[in-house]
Amino acid sequence: MPESTMSESIGPESTVPAAVSCPAGFITNVRESSGLIRLDLTLDQPVKFLPGQFAMLNLAGDRPFVFSRPFSILSAEGTTMSFLYRVVGRGTEAMADLKTGQPMTVLGPLGQPFPGPTEVGDKPVVLVAGGVGLPPLHNWLARYGRPDDLGFFGGRDGGDIPWNLLAGKWQVSVDKAMDIPAGQEAYEGLVTELVAQYPALQGDRPRVVMSCGPIPLLKAVAALAHDRDWDCYVSLEEHMGCGYGACKGCVVPVQDAGPDGWRNATCCEEGPVFPAEEICWDRYGVATLPQVD
Ligand SMILES: Cc1cc2nc3c(=O)[nH]c(=O)nc-3n(C[C@H](O)[C@H](O)[C@H](O)COP(=O)(O)OP(=O)(O)OC[C@H]3O[C@@H](n4cnc5c(N)ncnc54)[C@H](O)[C@@H]3O)c2cc1C
Ligand code: FES
Repeated sequence: MPESTMSESIGPESTVPAAVSCPAGFITNVRESSGLIRLDLTLDQPVKFLPGQFAMLNLAGDRPFVFSRPFSILSAEGTTMSFLYRVVGRGTEAMADLKTGQPMTVLGPLGQPFPGPTEVGDKPVVLVAGGVGLPPLHNWLARYGRPDDLGFFGGRDGGDIPWNLLAGKWQVSVDKAMDIPAGQEAYEGLVTELVAQYPALQGDRPRVVMSCGPIPLLKAVAALAHDRDWDCYVSLEEHMGCGYGACKGCVVPVQDAGPDGWRNATCCEEGPVFPAEEICWDRYGVATLPQVD
């Protein structure tokens, strides 16, 4: 992988933009909720992406991590690229400590996006996001959303919800109905319960559901979509070493026509977005993987 530019595009050239590797600076960390931070980076060139694509981020300078960390792209306008993340370990702690002007490196956009309006056709779209699964679906709704498309977001409690980012356009669920700001509403329970009960989603109109979040959420969304006969796409968050198909550290089990009935697919290149029916759910999310540096 040359440091300056990766020449080949990932997926069909007409739809998926080519990835670039570039330095970034002018970091701004903005707290969007008690647990979610928006990171705005200024890149040295404008980068286009599609909802569901991600970038590999790393510190630049003296102390980069051996492995960059994958993050879904929340938005990219001109040379500003934004991400939404939760601090869970050393890499995200280091991101939260970054100061304006400190350098980072960005490799992206990578991976296959969610279907766009052409693939979806006239079926209304249901977007179901949990926690840090919000960025790709937030971008989908902001970019393509039509009046019948609906967004559902599940968080821990009212303090964990990025109310400004959701801008009143998303239905919200919380595990615990506490710290809900005045004027805001949230269903107490699982986001999939909210989707299942939601009045506008009753009936047998064909729909397309897209989901990103923890594995139990994705499994529940896939099961609901199966019951309702909706098309379903999920974005999987695997541990990643390289982000572009070289290390095979991100494989997920998918259906295959071969003798075993399944095979390992690279989440970074063939995904992270997959049709839910292609995932071998009974094999997925079972293994415990080693930590990276
Ligand atoms: C395609 C893709 C998109 C992602 N988008 C986002 C995003 O928009 N916002 C966000 O906050 N996170 C996102 N993630 C997860 C993010 O990459 C991890 O949270 C991050 O790598 C953790 O780095 P760390 O060094 O802080 O944690 P580590 O010290 O490496 O790990 C801390 C904990 O997080 C778990 N963890 C590490 N990597 C992952 C992972 N990939 N998936 C699930 N759990 C993990 C570890 O098992 C461990 O329990 C995405 C992952 C993928 C694959
Ligand atoms: S992260 Fe290296 S092959 Fe997918």
